[in-house]
Amino acid sequence: MLKPNTHYAELKDSYLFYNIAQKTKAYVDAHPRTHLYRMGIGDVSLPLCGAVIRELYGAVDDQAKQESFHGYMPECGDPELRRTIAEYYGRRGISLDPEEVFVSSGASDELGDILDLFDVSNSSLVIEPAYPAYVDANVMTGRKVVHLPSGKENGFLPVPDEGMEADLLYICSPNNPTGAVFSKEQLKEWVDFANRRGAVILFDAAYEAFIEDPELPHSIFEIEGARTCAIEICSLSKTAGFTGTRMGYTVIPKELERAGMKLNDMWVRNRTTRTNGVSYILQKAGAAVFTEEGQKQIHANIQIYKNNAKVLMEALDACGIWYCGGKNAPYIWMKCPEGFGSWEFFDHLLNEVQIVGTPGEGFGACGEGYFRFSTFGDPEDTKTAAERMKQLLMK
Ligand code: MLT
Repeated sequence: MLKPNTHYAELKDSYLFYNIAQKTKAYVDAHPRTHLYRMGIGDVSLPLCGAVIRELYGAVDDQAKQESFHGYMPECGDPELRRTIAEYYGRRGISLDPEEVFVSSGASDELGDILDLFDVSNSSLVIEPAYPAYVDANVMTGRKVVHLPSGKENGFLPVPDEGMEADLLYICSPNNPTGAVFSKEQLKEWVDFANRRGAVILFDAAYEAFIEDPELPHSIFEIEGARTCAIEICSLSKTAGFTGTRMGYTVIPKELERAGMKLNDMWVRNRTTRTNGVSYILQKAGAAVFTEEGQKQIHANIQIYKNNAKVLMEALDACGIWYCGGKNAPYIWMKCPEGFGSWEFFDHLLNEVQIVGTPGEGFGACGEGYFRFSTFGDPEDTKTAAERMKQLLMK
């Protein structure tokens, strides 16, 4: 008799952002003419930049002509794009072999898929509050999750202690949801810990492009020793507005091996079986992000989101509310006003001033009492929302 994957029964009833979408929809259905200020899910509001759009059109035209038509793409990515991404790292002083770069269809898919490389008996450490997909992907596959809570006292940036028992270590920096960024010294502690234990770090670098402090690391591979213990998962979603377009990349060093097996070779084996590669059209668009023109244009968009962050931070400052993030990351993590749980605060903002944010509790139990704003919203909306929130909270 067929047996379903019963680990699904161990998941929370529904996924955080699905939950929020449902609650928001119920509000809109009840108040059809109300405008909502959406600062919940980290979904971008600006269109793709000109350099990307031009390549997209060009690639569609290529597919229309016999002489430039492309069928299946290489499963691990177009060699030219792999080289381009390796050069992007090279400009930051990190030397990569293009074959260490795998083009993916986005970081969220990859964060779950990469678990194929590891036995289900491995446990995964998740620093919380955390992007909920880490926990869900592990629960779905029957892995043990070790929750490591963090808080205001350590700036939401915990370092390992020898008593921790875990084989896979999820680190997201700049962090979703707190916006906190690990320093090189802190990351070195994690790298040394992973190498000592034979653990593997899954480093989520989806928000690296938002770092403005020159001292802070953009990549785990800036840290000595990371090539023997880390995989880096990156995304163009937030960097270049690809949430609806989908493309990312993953770096697996050739030195990284466990029990005599090379993880890079294993991932080649996995991708060649499990995918037929990211489409030609999207890889052309993705390549445009790394050109000089593309970099200039995406950073102009990132600056607009950073201005949103500034507007929101000024409003929170005016209200005397504690928060972190917003400077080197597109998320602001605030303490809920006295007396509010995080879902209560969600309802309060939605009902009173029509602002949608994300309750901290959705990122793990230690997120209770906190609230997250995404700064990817429309700039005019963000200004109005900041003003409305100020008026509500200063009442
Ligand atoms: C978030 O809001 O946490 C992210 O946008 C979700 C995602 O990247 O899937």
